[in-house]
Amino acid sequence: MPDVGLEDIEVELFVRALQLRHGYDFSQYSPASLKRRVLQLVQAQQTGTISELTARLLHEAGFLQTVLEGLSVPVSEMFRDPEVFRALREQVFPLLASYPQINIWQAGCAHGQEVYSLAILLEEAGLYERTQIYATDFNESALRHAQEGIYPAKEAQLWSRNYLAAGGSHTLADYYSARYELIKLDQRLRRNVIFANHNLVTDEVFCEAHLVLCRNVLIYFSDPLQDRTLALFRDSLVRGGFLCLGTRESLDFAPSAADFVPVDAGLRIYRLGPRTPGGE
Ligand SMILES: C[S@@+](CC[C@H](N)C(=O)[O-])C[C@H]1O[C@@H](n2cnc3c(N)ncnc32)[C@H](O)[C@@H]1O
Repeated sequence: MPDVGLEDIEVELFVRALQLRHGYDFSQYSPASLKRRVLQLVQAQQTGTISELTARLLHEAGFLQTVLEGLSVPVSEMFRDPEVFRALREQVFPLLASYPQINIWQAGCAHGQEVYSLAILLEEAGLYERTQIYATDFNESALRHAQEGIYPAKEAQLWSRNYLAAGGSHTLADYYSARYELIKLDQRLRRNVIFANHNLVTDEVFCEAHLVLCRNVLIYFSDPLQDRTLALFRDSLVRGGFLCLGTRESLDFAPSAADFVPVDAGLRIYRLGPRTPGGE
């Protein structure tokens, strides 16, 4: 008999049900973190077992959204890793400036904090008027939240520090209004953003991009799925286009990443170089 724990069997059946019933494919997510999140859902929903969670997923209309919420980890912050945003501003934006129209794809946008961060920096660099940002995620409620741009006011202090560390030239408070315990970002920042549902596992190339920013999403994927996703980014980028990943993510060992050259390897910023001989 194979030595597979009962919970691991249940997770596999849960993932299969999610795919067969709803078309969401989590089979190539990293098993350890997926199992952790499934068990957190069991706790939050008080189902007792993963099998009971699976039953609700199969039979209960509307339960899918709860499950996707639980599996998707839409955690983010504005100007997260400010040195990365500073490098984008100082090393990448001057090169993007040579394009008459700039397309940016921000994949895995969660609640939109990075989208607004980019919009602010582009505005300050004088590039926003000719930029289109496509902000995508597979979590519908995260996308709705992102469009609203409303966040707890207690985040503002850290985000203001991040903004200055990223090289911001005003104060972050210039871009939001505060009311009670909440801040609302200036909705003018949204004027060149299209929010859309896109699943990196199953959907295809999204747009022709000059910069793809996808941070802290690949960490949840297995190596083959990371490779598929990187191929998607490569195929979306113009030659000379930029890719920015999370600081714990890397292109190492991904065959699809052969055409990328580092701009700042430590900050995980890369550029799509000329095609390698023998490449597609
Ligand atoms: C930890 S958040 C990262 C947010 C932001 N990029 C950052 O670094 O602060 C991960 C996001 O990836 C999204 N995500 C996970 N799997 C995805 C998939 N297959 N397709 C699209 N988005 C996905 C989740 O919904 C979540 O919003």
